[in-house]
Amino acid sequence: QSSTEIDISAIQPGQAIKAVFRKQPVFIRNLTPEEISAAEKVDVASLRDPQSLEERTKEGKTNWLITMGVCTHLGCVPLGAGEGEVKGEFGGYFCPCHGSSYDTAARIRKGPAPKNLEVPEYAFTSDTVVKIG
Ligand code: FES
Repeated sequence: QSSTEIDISAIQPGQAIKAVFRKQPVFIRNLTPEEISAAEKVDVASLRDPQSLEERTKEGKTNWLITMGVCTHLGCVPLGAGEGEVKGEFGGYFCPCHGSSYDTAARIRKGPAPKNLEVPEYAFTSDTVVKIG
């Protein structure tokens, strides 16, 4: 099983980058305080795939949202990592194939996708490097 190490030091709050993990896109997002509070304000029980931001991030590093960049509907690559302001109406990611909108915790909020964007296994090897896989 191969893993990927990514230097995250240049990713500013509000920015997301696209990397590659096992030949699939992975999104690494540095959430702003506003994006974190937007995610934390949501009633988890009301979600299609109920998960809190805390469950989807590491303790003490809730600003780092790391997910696969693969829509859980039919596998398109959602927009919002590196496409400027294209984040959909819930402020996270938007899949243009059939209109799934993900929120700032990359949870499905609207459209046909059944699940949140998948969080891969990962660990921080330092403050600036994350190892995925
Ligand atoms: Fe993303 Fe269908 S593949 S909405």
